[in-house]
Formats: sequence, structure tokens, C-alpha cells
Amino acid sequence: MGRRGRRSSNRAMEPSLFLKMGLALLVLSVAFVHGNPTVNAHSYASPRTYIDELRRMQSSYILQQKIPGSSLPDELSPTPAQAPPVAPRPNVYKVTSYGADPTGKTDSMDAISRAITDALEGPTNGFLIAGIANLGGARIDLEGGNYLISRPLQLAAGKGNLLIHGGTLKASDTFPGDRYLIELSSKNNNGAFNNEFVTLRDLLLDSSYRGGGIFVLNSLRTTIDNCYITHFTTNGVLVQDGHETLIRNSYLGQHITAGSDPGERYFSGTGIHLMGNDNVVSDVVIFSAAIGIMVSGQANTISGVHCYNKATGFGGTGIYLKVPGLTQTRIVHSYLDYTGIVAEDPVQLDIANCFFLGDAFIVLKSIKGEISGVNIVDNMFCGSDKGIDIVQLDQRNGPFNQIHQVVVDRNNVKGMKLRATVARGSVQGNGPSWMVDFNPILVFPDFVNHVQYTFSPSESLYPNHALRNISHNNVMIESDVPCPATVFVSVHQGASFYSS
Ligand SMILES: *[C@@H]1O[C@H](CO)[C@@H](O)[C@H](O)[C@H]1NC(C)=O
Repeated sequence: MGRRGRRSSNRAMEPSLFLKMGLALLVLSVAFVHGNPTVNAHSYASPRTYIDELRRMQSSYILQQKIPGSSLPDELSPTPAQAPPVAPRPNVYKVTSYGADPTGKTDSMDAISRAITDALEGPTNGFLIAGIANLGGARIDLEGGNYLISRPLQLAAGKGNLLIHGGTLKASDTFPGDRYLIELSSKNNNGAFNNEFVTLRDLLLDSSYRGGGIFVLNSLRTTIDNCYITHFTTNGVLVQDGHETLIRNSYLGQHITAGSDPGERYFSGTGIHLMGNDNVVSDVVIFSAAIGIMVSGQANTISGVHCYNKATGFGGTGIYLKVPGLTQTRIVHSYLDYTGIVAEDPVQLDIANCFFLGDAFIVLKSIKGEISGVNIVDNMFCGSDKGIDIVQLDQRNGPFNQIHQVVVDRNNVKGMKLRATVARGSVQGNGPSWMVDFNPILVFPDFVNHVQYTFSPSESLYPNHALRNISHNNVMIESDVPCPATVFVSVHQGASFYSS
């Protein structure tokens, strides 16, 4: 319908149509003159009421001016698509219309809060998940401004399909140090999720060393996209409970630096803290923080993340998996740059296709001694010939004593020391015993649960031979008579294999 209407109006215009358009323009210009945003904010409860008022004026004006009997050809007669100027009102909430100061000189807290409240109280169209009214894609537009705020911008629970985008928020020097610039954290939604499908996009969030950037509590399908979050003291982003927050294409750092910062040893805070399940962090750079990403929920994916937040040498950690037991974390295609990964008692963990630079390594930390279903495969490690192991155990709380299905294999090293749970070796001698010491490569001490060997005599002798001992990762083969031979041995630690 809309297309047909536009095509018709391209035809030769009749005088009556010109008149009609002229009236529309007149009404629009009245609206423009009265549209001074600062006047709005003070004379009406909200710009919404003001706009409503204007629309009423507009429609009555047109009704009065309608000339009886004026006729238009059928194809030019008004259709809903054509009928000016009462268009459905857009759900765009421009913060300067509420009096926000885009220069960042004065506190815009109240103005932006009013814009958010209006957006959340705007028209809804059914529900998303139970308890979440659909705002239809309402947008809170920061209009490229730089706004000072003195308290968190908090989204009320029970609403979804909303976007906040396009500007900078900066904490004022009275901002509370234990809060976040944007909080999806209302507590009471009768057990339902707080919010669903809220998108925070194209934002620079500057916590001014007072608190954090974004707090997402018990929400569903939140997206944080193309955000730059800095000067936080607690967390850049905290996600607690809820599901499926996507944090992508973003930059987080406590201090604005690009490496080799003289203050690096004093960096604190955490870039992203995931205290919930099923979240995704993808294509994110964390350039300064004591811990890049802290994970204490399950089934989170970290992909394409570059951590150079604080070097291990200064006490930093790139990714810390602080969820002993079922973790189900996948860390893939990421870049750990002078800072490594720590995993506590991991059960189901995948670290694959990552690049570790600057002697960065992985620590498997025993809490109750359980490690199971772990793949550390196909990664590259690069260091400075200091003999640093790529995978290390922290057994200060006690040894790992439940080791199942752990595969550390197919990693490559340059200037670091390879560690693996799968190894091959050979030894040549005259017997009658041959021993291969796998301690220099195996990850776990005194733990071999599968051995295969090939006995290859160099003369045409056929002695009896047998596997005698595997204790302390030393595999010993013996023959009944001395015999010049090479023995090839392969061992596995904790890989799954069939035994009946
Ligand atoms: C295996 O070697 C260890 C020393 O490494 C020794 O204590 C143990 O008795 C040996 N076991 C057998 C079956 O010979």
C-alpha cells in the first residue's frame, strides 16, 4: 500500500494536493518552532505529553480546514499510507529532549533517568518471555553526547526489547563506588527474569575510578556490543544469574593504555565477571585489569578474546575459572598475551586454538583434587627460553587424585617447555631392561593409565620381554636375556580408553 501511494504522488500534482501539502508543512513548522527541547522538559511532564498535545492540535487543524466537496482523482485519494501528518509515534527517546547536558559539564542523571523511565513506560506489544512486556524496540538515544551521571541508570524489571545507544556516560565524583553506570538489576519481578533483549550498544562508559560499568542481574538475552568500558575499580561488566548475555566487539580496561604501562603492577579490578550460565564473550579486548575475565558460572563461551590486562609476572590473570566442578567453559581462538589461564578443579573445559605469548601458561589448580573432561589442544605457546611449562599444576591444596579424560596434546611451543598428557618416547640399549622417563613431558606426576610399547631388536634375536613398571612416570620394559634393541613407548594420562 505504501509503495503504491508514493508512486501516485509522483504524478502531476493538482492544485488541491499542493494546498494539502502546504498545510502539512505549516503544521510541521509550528511543531518545529515549539520543539525547543529545553522548553519541553520544563513546561510539560515529559516530551511525550508535549508531543501528544501537538498531535491533537495538528489533527484538529486539518479537520477544520477540510474543504467540503473537494474531489481528488481516485488514485490520489488519501490512503492510510499517504494521510499526513499523523504518523505512528516513534519510540525514540532522545536524552537532550529531557534536558540532558551533552557537554558533560552538568549532571544529566535525572534527565537520562526520565528518558529511561518514559521508554520503559512506553507502549508495549504483548510479551516476550512470561513477565517481560515487549517495548517493540524502543530506543534511548544518547545522541553522541558526553553525559555526567551521579547515580546508576537503573532499568526497571519486567520490560524487554529496548536499546540504549550512541554516547558516553561518565561517573561524577560523587558516584557511589559500589555501583555500576548502567544496572539491569531491579530485584522484584515475581521470580521471573528482570529484563529480556536489552541492547547496550556504541557506548563509552567511564566509571571515573568509582565502581563498575554494567551490571546485568537475572536477565535474559542481553547484548553489550561495541562498548568501551574504562576506569572501573570493581568490574567492567558483571553478569549475575540469568542467561545468554552476549558481550561482543568491545574494549575493557581500567587504565587507558596500549601495553608496557609503567603502572601495570598496580592494575586492579576485573574486566568481565560472569557469575551466571550460558553467556558469550566474543571479540573483546581487555587491556588493563588485574583479572581479564572471571568465570564462576557454567557453560560460558570465550571466543576471540585478547587479554593483555596485567602480566602474570605482575600478579595478573587473563582468564580465571573459579568454579570448581562442572565448568563447561569453552575458551577458543583467544590471545593470552603475557597473562594466562587459571582453572580450579575443572570438569568439562575446552581450551583450543588459542595463542599464548610472553611465557603465558595454563594453571590447573586443585581444590578437591578433581579434574575431568578437559581438552587443552591445538594451542600455540611462545616464550623467551626460560623453560616455562605451558601447563602447570597448583596442588597446594592437595594433589589431583580423580583424573579422567584429560587431554593435553597437539600444542606447539617456541621458547617454552611442552607439557602433555599423551607422550611418545624411545630408548636404545642392550637390556635386559629399558626405561623411558616421561616426567619431563607429562602433566601429572606418577600417573600413567595406558601404555603401549614396541620391542625392536637390532639383531635377529627373539627374547621374551614384558612391561615391568610404570611408577613415577618411568616406563620399564625387561627381557629375559640381554639383547641390543630399541624400545618405542607411548603413554596416556587420563585419556579415555576402553577396558573391560
Ligand atoms: C616399580 O618401581 C618402583 C620404584 O620406582 C618400586 O618402588 C616398585 O617396587 C616397582 N614395582 C615393581 C612391581 O617392580
